[in-house]
Amino acid sequence: MIIQGGERLIGEIQIAGAKNAALPLFIASLLTDEPVHLHNVPALRDIDTVEKLLRIMGITVDRSGGDATIHAKTLGTIEAPYELVKTMRASILVMGPLLARAREAKVSLPGGCAIGTRPINLHLDGFQALGARITLEHGYIHARAKRLKGTTIDLPLPTVTGTENLMMAAALAEGTTVIENAAREPEVVEVGEFINQMGGEVSGLGTNTLVIKGVPGLHGTEYTIMPDRVEAATYMVAAGMTRGNLFLKGTQPQHLKAVIEKLHEAGMEIYEENGGLRCLLTGPIKSVDVKTLPFPGFPTDVQAQLMAMMCLANGLSVISETVFENRFMHVGELKRMGADIQVEGHSAIIRGRGELSGAPVMATDLRASASLVLAGLAASGTTEISRIYHLDRGYERMEEKLRAVGANIRRVKE
Ligand code: EPU
Repeated sequence: MIIQGGERLIGEIQIAGAKNAALPLFIASLLTDEPVHLHNVPALRDIDTVEKLLRIMGITVDRSGGDATIHAKTLGTIEAPYELVKTMRASILVMGPLLARAREAKVSLPGGCAIGTRPINLHLDGFQALGARITLEHGYIHARAKRLKGTTIDLPLPTVTGTENLMMAAALAEGTTVIENAAREPEVVEVGEFINQMGGEVSGLGTNTLVIKGVPGLHGTEYTIMPDRVEAATYMVAAGMTRGNLFLKGTQPQHLKAVIEKLHEAGMEIYEENGGLRCLLTGPIKSVDVKTLPFPGFPTDVQAQLMAMMCLANGLSVISETVFENRFMHVGELKRMGADIQVEGHSAIIRGRGELSGAPVMATDLRASASLVLAGLAASGTTEISRIYHLDRGYERMEEKLRAVGANIRRVKE
C-alpha cells in the first residue's frame, strides 16, 4: 500500500457489518438443520475463511453481495483442519456448535499469534464442565460428549469467543447453564440474540451473568449483522489525525462510548447525525492516557490506532494494554516513522512530536496494519506498507473507502 500523506479526509464512509459478529453467526448457523439467512455480511478474507471451513464440513453456503444463506442440513465431517485454524483462530468457535449438535468436534489447536500466546483453556474447561471429554491428539483437540448437561461456569477472565463458544454449546444442552463473568461485548450480545431468534433461551445478555436454558432444537432464521465498531473507530481516528471531517454512516454510538469519550478528550468533535456519527477535528490533538479493558472499557482492538494518533499530539501519553500481553508490534514500525515511543511492561509511553514522516513499514497483524495506514495518511511524504494482506482480514475495501474521502492511497502488487 502506498500512501502520500497530508490529505484531509472529508466526506462519508459507510460502515460495514462487524467481522467479530459475522464470524460467530456464520458458525452458530451450525446449530440448526434449517437454512439461516444473514444480511450485512462484510466482504472480508476472514469471512471467506469461515465459508471454506463450513463447506469442508459439508454445509451449504451461498453468498451474494452482503447476503449469505447457510444451510447445515447434515454435517459431513466434524473437523476443523490445521490449514484453516492457523490462518484464523476464530475457527475454534465451531467446537461449541459441533459438540451441541454432533456430540463430537475435532479442531486443530491454534498456535501462538502476533498479539500473544492466546490460550483456549477457558473454552476447554467450560466444555468439560458441560460434560465433554477432551483429548489432545496429533495437534488436534478432540472433544466428545454423550450428552451436554447445563451447569454453572465461572470464567476467570471474560473471554469473548470463549463466552460465545460456551453459549452456543449450552443452547442445546440439557437443563440450564449459567456463565458467570461472561464477556459483555456487543458481538457476544449479538450471538445470544441470534440464538434466541432461532428459538433458544438466553437471558442476561449485556450483563456479566448469562443464563442459557437448553432447548431440544433450534430453527432457521433471518438476521442483519450489526455495524463494525472497530472499523468505525478506525475511521474516527482517521478523521482526527488528518484534521478531516467524516460522516460515518451506520455507526452505533452506544457501542463506542469509551472510544468517543477518549477522542473528545483528545480534542475531536463527535456527534450523532441521522443514522451515523459526524467526526471532526479543528484544533490541536491533545495527549490522552488510556487503558484497554473488556467492554464497556476502551477496546484493545483500537489501541494501535489511538497510539498512532498520540504520536501527532504535543505531549506525553501513556497507553496500557491489559487485555493481551504482547500487542505492541506496531511500536517498532511507528518509530520508523519518527515516533518517540518507549514500551515498559504493559505500557507504552508516547512523546508526541506533532508529526510523523513517511517511511517503508511492515504490517504484523490486523489492527497494527490499520494504525500504520492511519500514520501514513497523516505523515509527511510517502509511506509504503508491506504485508497489507492482514488488512483484508478485517477491513472491507479500505483503500477504496479512504480514496473516496480524499486519501492519496493505492495498492500495488507485492
Ligand atoms: N484467554 C485465556 N484463555 C482462554 C481465552 C482467553 O487466557 O481460554 C485470555 C487471552 O489470552 C487474552 C484475554 O483472555 O489475554 C482476552 O481474550 P479473548 O478470549 O476475549 O479474545 P478472543 O475471544 O480470542 C476476541 C476478538 C479479538 C479481540 C478480543 C478482545 C473475535 C473473533 N476476536 O478475541 O479481535 O481483540 O476478543 O476484545 O471476536 C481483532 O478483531 O483484531 C481481534 C483480535
